[in-house]
Parts: sequence; C-alpha cells; structure tokens
Amino acid sequence: MSDDGVIIFDTTLRDGEQAAGINLNMAEKLQIAHQLARLKVDVIEAGFPAASEGDLEAVKRIAQEVKGPIIAGLARARKEDIKAAYEAVKYSDRPRIHTFIATSDIHLKYKLKMSREEVLKAVEEAVKYAKSLVDDVEFSAEDASRSDLDFLVQVFKVALDCGATTLNIPDTVGYAYPAEFGEFVKAIIDGVGAGSGVVWSVHCHNDLGLAVANSLAGIKAGARQVECTINGLGERAGNAALEEIVMALKTRKDIFGIDTKIDTPKLYETSRLVSRLTGVVVPPNKAIVGANAFSHESGIHQHGVLCNRATYEIMRPEDVGFPGTRLYLGKHSGRHAFKKRLEEMGFNLDEEAFERAFKLFKDLCDKKEIVTDSDIEAFIADEILSVSPSKRFELKGFSLSIENGGKATATVTVLENGIEKTDAAVGNGPVDASYKAIKRIVGIDPTLKSYRIEATSERSDALGEAVIVLQYDSFTVVGRGASTDIIEASIKAYVNALNRLFAAASLKGVELS
Ligand code: KIV
Ligand code: ZN
Repeated sequence: MSDDGVIIFDTTLRDGEQAAGINLNMAEKLQIAHQLARLKVDVIEAGFPAASEGDLEAVKRIAQEVKGPIIAGLARARKEDIKAAYEAVKYSDRPRIHTFIATSDIHLKYKLKMSREEVLKAVEEAVKYAKSLVDDVEFSAEDASRSDLDFLVQVFKVALDCGATTLNIPDTVGYAYPAEFGEFVKAIIDGVGAGSGVVWSVHCHNDLGLAVANSLAGIKAGARQVECTINGLGERAGNAALEEIVMALKTRKDIFGIDTKIDTPKLYETSRLVSRLTGVVVPPNKAIVGANAFSHESGIHQHGVLCNRATYEIMRPEDVGFPGTRLYLGKHSGRHAFKKRLEEMGFNLDEEAFERAFKLFKDLCDKKEIVTDSDIEAFIADEILSVSPSKRFELKGFSLSIENGGKATATVTVLENGIEKTDAAVGNGPVDASYKAIKRIVGIDPTLKSYRIEATSERSDALGEAVIVLQYDSFTVVGRGASTDIIEASIKAYVNALNRLFAAASLKGVELS
C-alpha cells in the first residue's frame, strides 16, 4: 500500500457488537453502516456471518446497500465459515473475507488443541480457499502479541504465499505495551519481508487502557491499516477508539506524517448515533466525543481560551463536529428542514420510515414548544429503528393508580401477535407495577439488569428516554422507549426489550417459556 494514508477498518458492527449487552437489529446495523460510509471509513467489518442466520443476513444487506467502503465478513479458518462470509459479502462491489486463527501457544494448547504444524496447514487451506472466492483476503493471527515471533513470521509467510493481501497483528487480550508492541510489529514486518504488496494491520484491545497507544505504535512501526470501533466499543474493555486514532494522526501529523480519509466533522454525530443505538453511554470526559471534551470550566482556562483558543485547545470543536448552536425545530418547521436535520444527524431513512418519523415529529410539536436534536434522536432510535417490522408485542394502553407512599396498581394492555391481552399487578411504584403486569401477560420472568431514564434536554417538557437491559435464558437485550410521559417511556422500553428477546431467541431456534 502506498503511503497516502492509514486505512481505517471499522469493526463496530463485528467486534463492537460482540460486547456484552449489545444487540442491534437489522435497521440499526444498516443505519450505522450508512453512517460509517458517510464518515468515509475504508473498510466496514459488517459481522461474523457464520455466527447465525441473522448475522449473515445483516452482512448481506450491508453489502447490498452500503456503497463506498470495502465490506468485510469475519470467518474462522474453516471452510464453512469462509463460505458463509463469502455468501454475505459477495453482494458488495468491494468484498473482503477476513479469516483468522490463534497463534499463541496458550491458545493452541487449551483452545484449539492443535500443533503448530496443524495451524500452519489450517492457515494455508483457509487463505487459499478464501482467495478462490474473492481477491481481497485478510488474515489475522489471533493473540499475536503473545505468540512466538518466529512462529508468527512463519504463519504470516504462509498466509502471504497463499494470497492474503492484508496481514493483521492483533493484541487480542490487550496485553501489549506501546514501545514493545511497536518493536514487535517492526520485527514481524522485517521478518516476513513482504515488500509493498501487502498491507500490515493492527487490532488492539483496551484491557490496560492502551489500545489507542498500541495502535499508534503499530502505525509508527509500519502498519498501514488500523482496526478500531466507534466509541471504543468491543469485547471486554473494548477496542481502540476510531475517533481517538483519527484525531491523534491528524493533530500530531508532525510525528506520524500520515493521515486518514475520515471526514472528521462527522465524528461526533457518528459517536452519538452509535451510543444511542447500542445503549452504551459515552462518558462526559471521553476524549474527542465526550460532552466535556471541549468545555473549559476553570476561570484561568476560560480566560486563556477567550484570549486565544489555542491556549487550551489542541483541536477545534468543529473539526470533530462538536455541535455549535443549531437552531431548534418546532411546529413551523417543514418536511424539508426536518429531512435536512435528520441527514445532519446521520440518519438515513427510506421514504416510508421518513414519513413515519415526520408524523412523530409533528405529533411532538403539538406537545412541545421546541424539539431538540436529542428529542429527534430519541424518537428516531426508539420509535423507528428499534421497532422491528415483525414485532410480536405492541403496547395498546395502560392505566395507573398510585397510593400515597408509593404502592401502585397498573393495568396494561398489550397486543401479542395482534391478540389483545390485559392484566394488572401491584408494585412498588408505577414502573414496577407495570413491569409485573406485562410479565403476567407474557408468562416469562426476565431479570431486569439495568434501568435508566434520562431527559433528552434540560427543559421540563423534554422527552424522557428509558433504556433497560433484560436478561432471560442465555439472552441479554437492550430495550428503549421515549415519551413525554416517563412511565409510558419505561413501559415502551420493556415491550421493546421483549420484542428483541423473542427475536433473538427465534433466530437461535429457542422457544421461550
Ligand atoms: O481480537 C481479535 O483477535 C479479533 C480477531 C478476530 C481479529 O477480534
Ligand atoms: Zn478483537
């Protein structure tokens, strides 16, 4: 690869989606993929097609619909995985198969129960097979950072000889230290001696909080692809955060001398979208996209910034799309202004979804004087995207009576596959009572792992957005609901979570009872 940039390989929809408690539906994955394309990432790793029918279908839809970036599908070094990845990515104009196998002794001994010779054979067969299907083949040596250097060099040489075009060095368990990792990457590149026909890549996890630092050390050592996720989502402590790597390369060009093609003013809206759809909150002090990333609180700092922003700011807020004072929308705003705002916020709705969204917007304008961007984000995410077309449950209505001291009785009516069902329950407050009534209707008793409700703005007529996590059987799902009435938002979130739970179970062929 030429030195005209670092390839940004986004794995939010694969490694990010693997994180505990995240499960995106098809509409949500498509929104994120479209936004990643708008952000101008080079590669979207859209999923792991062999994992389930649902994963394969999602990667296929992304490959069919999202144009611009390379669309990659992950596959273990097994024929059936590679075939599934091909079946999904083949619809893209730029398909990639990303195959991997572990190379560290600890993984060989306890997980794979394979010898080094067997691993070399598996790499050869997997890469050759992938190459027979697509031109663009990436090979990853899982747990590379804890693997023996000489063996790793041998493994990569085999992958290269069999046609791999990208060779990826993961720090799978987030064990590496930047200076050490940089030297390791350099030693591998020198050892393999592949020349310019191959792209070296790094993929770092954040268990010690060093994922971004290690990724940058990898780039300094010659890697020209970096694998990362929006907001640093990913297994355990996550992956390297895309926005941090991109802004580090841009801000410290004096050190790296190399940039990316990312449209950085779209970073903030992308972060918001991913946070909203995954339910994973961005901490206020998060670098680049946290709410306080550009706030100056102390008097001395404020004074300095007023004299000259560069005294305390190394990046301009507008370079990452940090929102300035945008005009609020309200009842006089028309279809055109609403559509434009949706686009600015990273939503890409088809006509039918746009019409539903516009109606919701107008309904909201009747209830609220002004509609903020956060209100819009909440109802698009919760009422349009999170609702699957084949939803099993729908909230029909509810009524409450609340005694002094907090005891409440809720009567809830839900449509289950179109059939009306009503039940009532007493609980500690209206949310508890409503959830109990719904559980009686549905006949299962999921565990409520977390519940939070937030106002979408500081105004008292803001929407309340409830985000809950339910666990039942082997499934963990997030549910969201928004309304100007916070009890209704909470009930909607529960019904939404149940729909996701039953959808996830049915994908795995599990009958919930
Ligand atoms: O962390 C890892 O090693 C991975 C590989 C599949 C690239 O996610
Ligand atoms: Zn990973």
